[in-house]
Amino acid sequence: MNSNFITKNYKELPPLRADLAKHLADTRAWIESQCVRPAEEMASFFTVRENGYDEHMGQFAPCYDVTAAQIPADCRKLLDLGCGTGLELDALDRICRAEGRAFPAVVGVDMTEALVDQLYAKHPDKDITVKLGSYFDVPFTTEPCGKEEFDCAVSVESIHHFSLEEKLPLFRKVWEALKPGGVFLQCDYFACCEEEVEMNEEHWRIRRAMNSEIGESDFVHIDRPKMAYDEAAVMENAGFSEVLYCTVGVEGTLLLIGKK
Ligand SMILES: C[S@@+](CC[C@H](N)C(=O)[O-])C[C@H]1O[C@@H](n2cnc3c(N)ncnc32)[C@H](O)[C@@H]1O
Repeated sequence: MNSNFITKNYKELPPLRADLAKHLADTRAWIESQCVRPAEEMASFFTVRENGYDEHMGQFAPCYDVTAAQIPADCRKLLDLGCGTGLELDALDRICRAEGRAFPAVVGVDMTEALVDQLYAKHPDKDITVKLGSYFDVPFTTEPCGKEEFDCAVSVESIHHFSLEEKLPLFRKVWEALKPGGVFLQCDYFACCEEEVEMNEEHWRIRRAMNSEIGESDFVHIDRPKMAYDEAAVMENAGFSEVLYCTVGVEGTLLLIGKK
């Protein structure tokens, strides 16, 4: 059964890791083993791993179900940031079929064409349009409306690759694209303590510098999980009136629910 506890108060959450000391030791050992390999550019990383991607992400299965279950039943237009092959959309499709309701129109944004091709192949019958590119650059809304177009925005396991400074304008853009009363469902990998944040930031700095082909504006695939309360504060600074924490039954992962 999916664990699904929702609270406004971070301190009420169960521990993100069952064994904190072991998790930190394992993470430290893993990072040390990786620090001989230059960072890979984001889209290249996912492109070379496109075969077996869905099976690999099966370890996060409860995240998709819990996140999809939080998409309002009356959502008619959904924004999906970092949609990849659309595992969260697969979960939403299962819910819509089971409940006999319509699947919403979806605008996805992703920079890895190989994964997006898989998404289109899985859902040829749906109103899904993916904008290929970075969600930091691609406009979410369509002129002439230009704002407040979506009932809900979702992102699963994508935004943990970026700094809090980078997230602020991104979350602001999501807030602007949502209709009043809309929700932003940000399901992601979060750190269990400041030490984990620092360890991963150092890992990102070292391996990014090892790849001389990575330009200043290029993204690399290195996890940079943040404390969920810091991320929630950024969502609030971006305009969300309330941010809730929702457990998803996967260690190290939470769903943040931002309300416009
Ligand atoms: C781990 S996958 C998650 C995909 C999907 N949401 C899922 O959970 O299966 C991360 C996705 O985020 C995309 N991504 C990472 N950074 C991005 C950016 N700046 N703009 C658009 N997509 C990005 C990657 O291309 C990849 O498809």
